[in-house]
Amino acid sequence: MYYPDELVEEIRAKNDIVDVVGSYVRLQKKGSSYFGLCPFHNEKSPSFSVTPGKQMYYCFGCGAGGNVFTFIMEYENYSFQEAIKHLAEKAGVALPEVEYNEEMKKRESRRNRILEVNKEAAKYFYYQLRSEQGKIGYQYLAGRKLTAETMKQFGLGYANQYSDDLVKYLRSKGYSDSVLHDAGLVNVDEKHGMYDKFWNRVMFPIQDVNNKVIGFGGRVMGDAKPKYLNSPETIVFDKSRNLYGLNFARTSRKNNIILCEGYMDVIAMHQAGFNQAVASLGTAFTSGQANLLRRYTQEVLLIYDSDEAGTRAALRAIPILKEAGISAKVVNLKPYKDPDEFIKNLGTEAFQERLDNADNSFFFEIRVLESQFNLKDPEEKTNFHREIAKKLCEFSEEVERDNYLEAVADRYHIGFDNLRKLVINYATKTGLVAQAAKPKSGIKEKKGPEEAAKTVQKLLLTWFTEEPAIFLKVQKYITPEDFTEEMYKKVAVRLFEDLSKQQVNPAAIISMFDNEDEQREAASLFNTKLHELESKQEKENAFKDILMKVKQNSYEHYQNKLGTDVNALQQAIAGKKALEELAKTHISFD
Ligand code: CTP
Ligand code: MN
Repeated sequence: MYYPDELVEEIRAKNDIVDVVGSYVRLQKKGSSYFGLCPFHNEKSPSFSVTPGKQMYYCFGCGAGGNVFTFIMEYENYSFQEAIKHLAEKAGVALPEVEYNEEMKKRESRRNRILEVNKEAAKYFYYQLRSEQGKIGYQYLAGRKLTAETMKQFGLGYANQYSDDLVKYLRSKGYSDSVLHDAGLVNVDEKHGMYDKFWNRVMFPIQDVNNKVIGFGGRVMGDAKPKYLNSPETIVFDKSRNLYGLNFARTSRKNNIILCEGYMDVIAMHQAGFNQAVASLGTAFTSGQANLLRRYTQEVLLIYDSDEAGTRAALRAIPILKEAGISAKVVNLKPYKDPDEFIKNLGTEAFQERLDNADNSFFFEIRVLESQFNLKDPEEKTNFHREIAKKLCEFSEEVERDNYLEAVADRYHIGFDNLRKLVINYATKTGLVAQAAKPKSGIKEKKGPEEAAKTVQKLLLTWFTEEPAIFLKVQKYITPEDFTEEMYKKVAVRLFEDLSKQQVNPAAIISMFDNEDEQREAASLFNTKLHELESKQEKENAFKDILMKVKQNSYEHYQNKLGTDVNALQQAIAGKKALEELAKTHISFD
């Protein structure tokens, strides 16, 4: 069975590598990657890495590596096709009909049936809210300043005080008890049999990005507990992969998405025109949700309650967003608790102002840290500075790290050089940043010439994926033909295409190959160990060294083929010219 590339890519994108690998291997975060004990060879200290940014895994011990498909193939011993099926199902992606076996067909029709019954229940609640007995619910929502239009947009409803009417109604519509049960709409116990899960509450239907009702939240109208009751997870409701309000926010065309804590906050913000607001579903923010957001935005503004719990939740969400490649900022609503309250009291303009002044996540984290130290005490102050240095080490990119170092040194009146020393101390002590090793380019000279040629080609591909911007500066000197290994060339063709659009997606490139060995080899192209280089100068030298070696090798390769290959002459001439130009060109990483 052939699956179109877009489908394969969709399935890959919906299966976050950290989630998938994390369910088999215990992973621990280190910088921007995760490490664990390699499941493919025996080892005592972890050399198996998973990099969310690249959506790839790689073992520095045994060389196993690839994307999420490769992992499932290797671990479960599946074929590429089987891995696709497995992961499609996991992410709820429908595969073309013909491929369905009986069991999958059953599952799919079950899903549809549950979505149907949810919709029926939502309609029932909606109708109730607008009926005579629903007045109390309507008044509650109106009292919270929601307009009729807003209530309609969000499909708000009301579950009345009887605890068996929904069950009766849905049965009368022909839904079986087992469907009601699997949809999470009912409770069952020996004494009462089957009865409604929700009663005497205003109801918030939860929709997925395709506007399908996947679950419900229900709020009491007074101070009773629990304040909110939510549907359990079901086969259509995965709380870690959905966000309340995203069905509207995804088309808001704002350049950010606001992430907050609650249903009412989302609704209040939408009503005030901030229709880019979403909320996680009464659970902690997950990487699945971050990846979902990544499809729609590059910047998330966090608005968590301005209490200790809210601060903690924000601190947990920031690294999850960062790993997904999203920049996070934190909005300060003090003295108000949440957006709902803030907007009611100070209005939309003041709210917009707070959005504009959101603290970037790094400074927010530093501010939280600061509050834990008594800066009047020299020892505590030093500890605070050490903590800052530790935080700075989380930036894997040197330029970024230096920029933040400068900014934070300035803001907290710390000497730049002193802080830099602390950073280097911390980094070398913990091995976060490897000490510059010789040779600086990372090329192991003892290998044979062919091995050496392969190594530089790999290194260059890795450089390009890690520093996509540098590609634009050198693309006139390099072509996929310079990769003399057939397979590397194939990868380069695709990677260069992506790079010229500045969209790098190495994990997708791996799916071009359908056998494990090729996938593993392809993964190694993006995971060659680059030495962390101290200065910009070293970095530029190392990069140029590698680029020149690849060109030199290519030039020699085509020269050897003169007379047997019609393209060789052209390649050799162009290669020579590029080499001469490169030799006198300074390639800058600025
Ligand atoms: N929540 C929940 N169960 C609770 C309390 C809260 O699931 N018992 C979830 C809900 O999704 C809620 C969110 O956590 O929207 C935030 O909680 P909270 O700040 O207490 O609620 P608000 O959204 O502020 O609700 P309200 O303004 O209606 O009090
Ligand atoms: Mn609230």
